[in-house]
Amino acid sequence: MYEVHRVREDFPVLKEVIYLDNAATTQTPVPVVEAMNEYFFRYAGNYGRGAHRLTRETTNRFEDSREAVARLLEAQPENIVFTRNTTESINMVAYGIEWEKGDHIVTTRIEHHSNLLPWMRLRKKGVSVTIVSPDASGVVPAGNVEAALTGNTRLVAVTQISNVFGSLQDVSAMSEAAHNVGAALLVDAAQSVGHMPVSVKELGCDFLAASGHKGLLGPQGTGLLYIKEPESLEPVYLGGGTVHSVTGDGYKLERPPARFEAGTPNIPGVIGMGRAVKYVIDAGITNIEQHVTSLARSTALRLREIPGVEVYGPEDRHGIVPFNVGTLNPHDVAMILDETRKICVRSGHHCAIPSIDFLGVEGTVRASFAMYSTAEEADLLVETVEQIARTLA
Ligand code: ALA
Repeated sequence: MYEVHRVREDFPVLKEVIYLDNAATTQTPVPVVEAMNEYFFRYAGNYGRGAHRLTRETTNRFEDSREAVARLLEAQPENIVFTRNTTESINMVAYGIEWEKGDHIVTTRIEHHSNLLPWMRLRKKGVSVTIVSPDASGVVPAGNVEAALTGNTRLVAVTQISNVFGSLQDVSAMSEAAHNVGAALLVDAAQSVGHMPVSVKELGCDFLAASGHKGLLGPQGTGLLYIKEPESLEPVYLGGGTVHSVTGDGYKLERPPARFEAGTPNIPGVIGMGRAVKYVIDAGITNIEQHVTSLARSTALRLREIPGVEVYGPEDRHGIVPFNVGTLNPHDVAMILDETRKICVRSGHHCAIPSIDFLGVEGTVRASFAMYSTAEEADLLVETVEQIARTLA
């Protein structure tokens, strides 16, 4: 039995506000902050450089984090690269593949800008990009992706859970279809990792990008990129830590993943992220998934019953509930929720303008849940939205 009230002790800010903006960033539990403090106060050194005790301890802890992430995703540590965020991870793939004129990419209309703009920019290089539409609830049918594939398709790039609709995509089916035409599959797992079991083996993906500061409860400025065949990708950044040898004539790259991690990384962040992964695993990923989806689904159903409130996304949504209240501006609704009840939600286009255009609205209010969210918080949200709808809409 998952006891949400026990984990809440680890998140002091939850005593101050009703935090329902977890798709933007989650709160960080005390043990994760303590792990980062321990780095600063007890053993701060650089990573992978030098022989003294502090750098050795730092390197060991950094690699422990990589192993924790690899275990979480059912990957091997050498296939995990630490980055700043999901956006950087996706751009590393967009820049790291040697594209040729005539290559084709398939992506979808429900993508975050981070999984859309890097592909669109490749049009300048003669790469064509097909943007597949979802159904009315924001789910992209795998058959629509399959229908868009051609003999020239090199990559399918798709989000696992939409940050606008909360919809889950059948990534495994898309992976099979992509591989049938010789294309690779990239998964944007920003909204799924940590909130539900995510296995690169089960998904059958070639690349998976995610952040440390969402479902994983880690610090901001941390991210990861899983690369199935690291030798096939060119590192975007070169410099310290990426080369095995250098002569006046050239250089030999270090083995993966080091070749992808140029310069001193966000060491405390990565160590915090590793601790956060353990925290999430201890809580139980399937418990978290069940808790978050059940809160989101019941909240969506109750919001739908309020006259004047429009709720978007599928019934079997994950932790994200987008809605509008009559013709009220979503930012005004978010401000009222905060000013009257300290309820923190996101409002606007959520960095996914094509999704918002698909809905035919200017923006939405978005409540998003995490492993520490409670039914009482959901009740307060529904009650306050009902008051706003009754008095203002
Ligand atoms: N991508 C994050 C969101 O959806 C920031 O809010």
